Amino acid sequence: MLVVEGLVKRFGGFKAVNNVSFKVDQGEILGLIGPNGSGKSTIFNMLSGTFPPTSGSMTFDGAEISGLPPHRIINRGIGRTFQIPRPFHRLTMFENVALAGYFGQCRHSRAKADEAAERALAMVGLPADRSMSVDGLGAAGLKKLELAKALATGPKLLLADESLGGLDDTEMEQAADMLRKIRDELGITIIWVEHIMGVLMRVVDRVMVLDHGEKISEGLPSEVSSDPRVIEVYLGTDADATQAAAAQARRPGAAHA
Ligand SMILES: Nc1ncnc2c1ncn2[C@@H]1O[C@H](COP(=O)(O)OP(=O)(O)O)[C@@H](O)[C@H]1O
Ligand SMILES: [Mg+2]
Repeated sequence: MLVVEGLVKRFGGFKAVNNVSFKVDQGEILGLIGPNGSGKSTIFNMLSGTFPPTSGSMTFDGAEISGLPPHRIINRGIGRTFQIPRPFHRLTMFENVALAGYFGQCRHSRAKADEAAERALAMVGLPADRSMSVDGLGAAGLKKLELAKALATGPKLLLADESLGGLDDTEMEQAADMLRKIRDELGITIIWVEHIMGVLMRVVDRVMVLDHGEKISEGLPSEVSSDPRVIEVYLGTDADATQAAAAQARRPGAAHA
């Protein structure tokens, strides 16, 4: 579905993403992990058209997408969530999602956008109450709203950026299950970015690890969490999470549990 080759992003003299190549198969959940600043969101920003790559290619459904603006990319079926949710506070929660549905699917009718919003809100477990404001939403609610907005655009590929940030343990488990459900029930392919491994390893089919803009490991969760380079990168910062994830991933059938 997605083929990325030799992707590079420079900011001035600094290479935030350095020669990264990977593929995503239809229907899989690829985990993209790495310490803060390793280039994860920068890859999402290129895939979603926020800015073009310095060099390299990104082929989605057989067509090159690098250099396309965000609205064209979303119309081709790549939706994204943002690490830092910034809803429109003067719109209701429902309107925030309906707006994504309206523009995400090539400006279809308001009625269809409303239907897309209803489906998306139900999928993430937010109320369909049309008068509800976004102001009462806590961290978990805002993350769900991000997902609902992305889903309302009707994506084939969903880029989920740090869906667990700011959540407690129970909320993290719920968010992980939700991404799994989005893939299983809607058939949406997912790239899931996170800086801690934790519950991500339980849900993803495959993992890719970035460090300083470079891909340092890729494979099944069980393989990646026992890779010495990955352990080295995570030691000192997230050693406990790494060990917990390794233990999770070693459970028989963990990757598909
Ligand atoms: N628009 C930008 N301009 C300059 N530097 C940036 C920009 N976006 C990201 N960076 C830098 O690129 C590196 C990778 O950032 P990012 O992709 O956000 O990391 P991650 O999402 O893995 O935490 C960081 O050093 C960050 O400061
Ligand atoms: Mg990031």
